[in-house]
Amino acid sequence: MKFQFNGENQKTVKEILAKYPTERKKSAVMPLLDLAQRQNNNYVSKDVIAEIAEILEMPEIKVYEVASFYTMYNLKPVGKYLLQFCKTTPCMLRGIDKIVKDCKEKFGIEMNQTTADGLFTFKEVECLGACVNAPVVQINDDFAEDLTSETFLKILADLQDGKEFKVGSQIGRQCSAAQE
Ligand code: FES
Repeated sequence: MKFQFNGENQKTVKEILAKYPTERKKSAVMPLLDLAQRQNNNYVSKDVIAEIAEILEMPEIKVYEVASFYTMYNLKPVGKYLLQFCKTTPCMLRGIDKIVKDCKEKFGIEMNQTTADGLFTFKEVECLGACVNAPVVQINDDFAEDLTSETFLKILADLQDGKEFKVGSQIGRQCSAAQE
């Protein structure tokens, strides 16, 4: 089905395009992909790529090249909560491997898979830029930090129950203040 930006987002598209010289409007490809993904159940479909290519007057393959290069764009449908596990060194040293193992066991899925109820998708990513509060998992737009298996599985149980989770440090650390 053809993708089109909804009324509200069409206004946003205009605002985004206004930031760039007309002859350089291709530069808007990343914010448009992000906007479209948010409207399109958190993924970039072929129709999204076609629509953005048309708006920016660029070949679809060029839009696809950008969308497939960055991990923040999902090229397949994902669950309600996209869980991005940081597997870079500081998070590894602080226990992300155990968190991943326990999550895989609990939910019976591997990386890049979604639970049968459509709630969670697991994804492995490189450094999320919050290493001082490692280990870190990004849940949609927010970070859960200073995790253990227990605290992270509790967060997932709360999300299953429709509750919100506490964003940031799970041990009450203020920003990245030294751990007592
Ligand atoms: S290594 Fe995980 S946030 Fe940087």
